[in-house]
Amino acid sequence: MPPADHDRFAARRNKLRKLVKKTGAEALLVTDVKNVTYLTGFSGQDSYLLVAKEAEVLLTDPRYTQQVEEECPGLELASRAPGKSILSTVQKLVKSAGVSQLGIEAISVTIDQFHTLADKLAPATLIPTSGLVEQLREIKDAEELVAIRKAIHIAEKAFAAIRATMHRDQAERQVAADLEYQVRRFGGSGLSFPPIVGVGERAALPHGVPSHKKIGEDSFVLIDWGAVADGYVSDLTRVLATGKISPKIKRIYDIVLKAQLRAIDAIKPGAMLCDVDKAARDVIAEAGFGKRFGHGLGHGIGLNVHEAPRFNSSQTRPLQVGMVVTVEPGIYIPGFGGVRIEDDVLVTKTGYEVLTHVPKDFDESVID
Ligand code: GLY
Ligand code: MN
Ligand code: MN
Repeated sequence: MPPADHDRFAARRNKLRKLVKKTGAEALLVTDVKNVTYLTGFSGQDSYLLVAKEAEVLLTDPRYTQQVEEECPGLELASRAPGKSILSTVQKLVKSAGVSQLGIEAISVTIDQFHTLADKLAPATLIPTSGLVEQLREIKDAEELVAIRKAIHIAEKAFAAIRATMHRDQAERQVAADLEYQVRRFGGSGLSFPPIVGVGERAALPHGVPSHKKIGEDSFVLIDWGAVADGYVSDLTRVLATGKISPKIKRIYDIVLKAQLRAIDAIKPGAMLCDVDKAARDVIAEAGFGKRFGHGLGHGIGLNVHEAPRFNSSQTRPLQVGMVVTVEPGIYIPGFGGVRIEDDVLVTKTGYEVLTHVPKDFDESVID
């Protein structure tokens, strides 16, 4: 890792220390795998990071020692012997650091791990914390934005490739498999989630699993996909129509697109997440489809495909410069089908930048 990267991760850990201090804990045991990656650059699994006032130690096992040395040079390492549990390593480190109040990440520690740790560390106590690293992750730095742009670029090239060869005998599963192949071919390390491909009435399933249903004629297909590049993700949705277009699908498409554009236009630093959600929801409700938009407007993307912040009616907090969010309104009608249009948007000083570029005017969604 170049020295600049090393400094970048160290700066993140220093920011975290300030947040940990406010909780009353003397150290934080970071157990969420993506939080460990964010704070160290280590991209493996099954490893924890202990961030104490002065010390920071990555707890891993011999499968990863070489990788840690390559990805996080200079970071202190505690590698457990085969057969030893990671919690025993935690016990040793916490005792030797003299920590009497250890912060833990409530969302990623199981009840079993909690009880085991509490027993091992007594009389030291555990302080459950939430969202400490996640709040840092909400604001992307320049390098993270480079990775997200790359993940978008790869996803878009993959989509263009599958769109060019799509045909009516193709089943949803084949489209999904083609997408994965193309994402890897263009340099992605994989898909950011199993793609959603829904033909006709199956497009009414917001998170439908691709089936053997064929695209067929006079039809439409919803495709929700994303790529991973350098650990960061993209997340897009488009609907393609084939053959004779049903006026109903065109009407729904136009309403969803209008809702999406209205919401994107409401994005700027200081805008409340709930208000941006409402901007899209109002358009859909006014068109008579309010009950058919049953999910939040979008979510942050980064190391995870779903991360903070979230757009929904209960989020009364503001957008900030550097957040990258999806904007993805939808209308879903069981037995008929559905439309969702999803783009990735960066909050900038002056408003927003739409990072995704796949055309979305209805005419451009029609394939021969
Ligand atoms: N791919 C799921 C979503 O768009 O949030
Ligand atoms: Mn999506
Ligand atoms: Mn999404």
